[in-house]
Amino acid sequence: MLKIAVAKGRIAEKVSELLLYTSDYRDIIDLNSRKLVFADKANGVVFFLVKPSDVPVYVGSGAADIGIVGKDVLMETKDSAYEIMDLKVCRCRVVLAGPSDKSGVRPIVRKVATKYPRIASEYFNRKSESVEIIKLDGSIELAPIVGLSDAIVDIVETGNTLRENGLIVYEDICDITARMIVNRVSYKMKNKSINIFASAVSEAIEGGEANAQSVVMG
Ligand code: PRP
Repeated sequence: MLKIAVAKGRIAEKVSELLLYTSDYRDIIDLNSRKLVFADKANGVVFFLVKPSDVPVYVGSGAADIGIVGKDVLMETKDSAYEIMDLKVCRCRVVLAGPSDKSGVRPIVRKVATKYPRIASEYFNRKSESVEIIKLDGSIELAPIVGLSDAIVDIVETGNTLRENGLIVYEDICDITARMIVNRVSYKMKNKSINIFASAVSEAIEGGEANAQSVVMG
């Protein structure tokens, strides 16, 4: 069986949508259930839904052969994952953001709250700025509102969460997309089935884009 760990949330939603464009994997994942494991013996695959930051752990240990996860998570992971595909979906940005003081000038940041301490510290090191980094696990936008931090380093997709909480982007740090990673041993031992799955996903992405374009063109 090919074991595939998929990051829960936006990536799992996008992956299950993409799989609808494939012939082999279309009916496997049911996001409306509370199940975490979706096995399809006929096609020899099993999907696990896992917390995004845990995907590299499953793949690194070999509990999963393949992982699908955001580049943001991979950038935070110390052990380098073997990345075989940029799916170019679930596109978003990591930004430095904070309250708007209407001057248009980025204020001096002394404390920054983030789920991404590694990305944040690399960013401030590049700028030669000394900043206290406060690691949080979610609802990052709350931190500057209640005075826990001056700013945040977080992902932005639509920008709605920032807007609805009165925050603005001070600076873009990097772009993020979903990536496919593989366990190095599995890549040798299960190379054929990994390539078959990767090709199906790649074709599904092209199919999805073609479909979206035809909708736009009417
Ligand atoms: C992420 C991120 C922002 C939000 C941005 O949070 O941390 O809060 O999405 O998306 P938007 O630009 O489309 O509004 P997520 O939904 O993963 O939840 P979390 O706050 O629990 O981390």
